[in-house]
Amino acid sequence: MAPASANQFGYHDFTLGDFSFRRDEYFAHLKWPGGSHIAPVDKFLKALMRDVAWNFFYGIVNFDEVFGTLNHYGNVDVFAGLYNAGYRAQKKEFLQNFPSDEVRELFSAMLDDWTNEGFDPFAAPTETGSAFGPKRGNNTVAVTRARVTAKRMAGLKDDTPLRSDADGHLVNRHFADVDQTEPKVHAEPGFEGEVHAFNFFAYLSRSDVTWNPSITSVVKDSLACPTTEEFILPIIHGNDRVEWFVQLSDEITWDVSDRDTGAPRARITMKAGDVAAMPADIRHQGFSPKRSMLLVWENADEKLPELYASGKLKPNPVDF
Ligand code: PHB
Ligand code: FE
Repeated sequence: MAPASANQFGYHDFTLGDFSFRRDEYFAHLKWPGGSHIAPVDKFLKALMRDVAWNFFYGIVNFDEVFGTLNHYGNVDVFAGLYNAGYRAQKKEFLQNFPSDEVRELFSAMLDDWTNEGFDPFAAPTETGSAFGPKRGNNTVAVTRARVTAKRMAGLKDDTPLRSDADGHLVNRHFADVDQTEPKVHAEPGFEGEVHAFNFFAYLSRSDVTWNPSITSVVKDSLACPTTEEFILPIIHGNDRVEWFVQLSDEITWDVSDRDTGAPRARITMKAGDVAAMPADIRHQGFSPKRSMLLVWENADEKLPELYASGKLKPNPVDF
């Protein structure tokens, strides 16, 4: 837990089991029995933000090549060097398991304490202030932002709302050319409450965050998770299931590596209209030179990690 007093830069130290975390003006310093790590604090906070907001996401969230979390959906492994071939070769990996709530509470407190006024870990680099320097105010509003999660579909009655100028969701500078016209729905009498449509591109053009998939429609385990991307995905995601990507606009380059060792497997440049199935045994990180729109299609079936881990399902859904 955080001690009462702050360090000379105004930040608190945190501990989680045998891990300890300290920040100074530029870096996050991590320690565990037998090892330590240092990460630029802007990069660390961007990864921390996502791990908290996504409740540890699917599978592995690598903050970088050393530190991260593995989600067991209820409890979580916090690790150092576990998915790093060099650490593994020297038997230097370290992990501890915790109830998810305990890690989330600690990570949320650290995120809030270490984030300065004007720095938004979800924003594109040119749309936020600096993370660096001594402690300067806070940005609690930004770091406690809830992820959009539709119950059925964005814009339906009693569901997550569509976005507009009026609620502060302005069209992003890179999407000024996106048509904002909403479709007209002509439902048969008696079906007025059951037929729904909205302008998906207009909705995404008004996203104020990057690399943060929203759940905009849900059909059983099928989740449509679109997101707007700019600069670099702040985590390296290790899949525990297949993920489908549909590039809706512009272009993203993906580095794809072996999930467990990090050995490079592919570099893929996806242009508008391209579709990819990211296998269940990879890690990936995306690079988006300008803001772009990506649809991530997730399968939330909780049986999937075990089906892939046991080899009952093969890691790639398509053979060419
Ligand atoms: C992913 O790891 O699949 C992922 C995460 C965040 C995004 C896009 C893709 O914004
Ligand atoms: Fe992924």
